[in-house]
Amino acid sequence: MGDAASRRAGIAAAAVALRRGKLVGMPTETVYGLAADATNPDAVAAIFLAKGRPRFNPLIVHVGSLAEAQSLAILSPDAVRLAGAFWPGPLTLVVRRRAAASVADLVTAGLDTIAVRVPRHPVAQELLAAFGAPIAAPSANLSGHVSATTAGHVAADLGDKVACILDAGPTELGLESTIVDVSATVPRLLRPGAVSRERIEAKLGELRTLAGHDQARPLAPGMLASHYAPRAKLRLNVAEALPGEALLAFGGHLPPGADRAAAIRNLSPSGDLTEAAKNFFAALRALDSRAAKIAVMPIPNRGLGEAMNDRLSRAAAPR
Ligand code: TXA
Ligand code: MG
Repeated sequence: MGDAASRRAGIAAAAVALRRGKLVGMPTETVYGLAADATNPDAVAAIFLAKGRPRFNPLIVHVGSLAEAQSLAILSPDAVRLAGAFWPGPLTLVVRRRAAASVADLVTAGLDTIAVRVPRHPVAQELLAAFGAPIAAPSANLSGHVSATTAGHVAADLGDKVACILDAGPTELGLESTIVDVSATVPRLLRPGAVSRERIEAKLGELRTLAGHDQARPLAPGMLASHYAPRAKLRLNVAEALPGEALLAFGGHLPPGADRAAAIRNLSPSGDLTEAAKNFFAALRALDSRAAKIAVMPIPNRGLGEAMNDRLSRAAAPR
């Protein structure tokens, strides 16, 4: 986004576009979002159309502060505790929507809950401040495709559907926000993400996880088994790369067959999960264009590994 003046001008132009009901590519610390005025039903409808997203799958509403979140929703004590610990940041809270909340009904897909988050990316914060109203934004990828962690990914999937893309370089964290449902008495982890389960449990105690993938009536409707799918077929937890396969590697020791892989991306040669998360979606996109099959090395299931393994098992699910 160049110097401070062009950055300010870009954000001001994006705010004008949002006011006119247009869509904007917005960087956040997790992944890029496809932003629209959450109070404008036509703008919100345009998000669903652009992504090819089923209308039963509600959107996350981005706001500038806890107080703004409280004007849209009723936050339980657990919700306030988590907001205090992780906002602004990569945590989405599913909370009870206020009947009078000024967001289009399509945003929440008719549910009496609403997903809210205060992002910490400076460009997202400045856009929220310049726009002055809640912003609905799903990840800026075609529905069911791999999330976008660069402006180039957004352009590839949705370039002709947005008024502009605020390019702030590759996103810092690389995985979507963690979603915790704190709308009922027992909090539940709906989607593992950029805040690890361990960090949430340190605040709330042990978390129940959304059980199974109920294709008919998913609780977090976006959590369908075949979400996050590249075109290539995935083979998980491999001990060996087969001829013709691309290899998604993790750590210092490559498996047999790596030398003849169609392509290799190593998420983190040193085995660092934070580094791996940052590289994750870009590596999947890159390998997807190089081979029809991707062999994936095991990734430890702790910390950010849980979210990567979640996305991988969805990407590998039959479709
Ligand atoms: O990091 C992120 O969360 C990114 C950035 C742009 O903020 N956004 C994102 O949005 O990943 P999306 O639409 O790709 O994923 C949002 C998920 C979907 O699985 C959706 O079903 C779920 O949030 N969701 C939204 N509202 C919900 C609600 N009221 N109850 C349960 N799940 C909800
Ligand atoms: Mg998404």
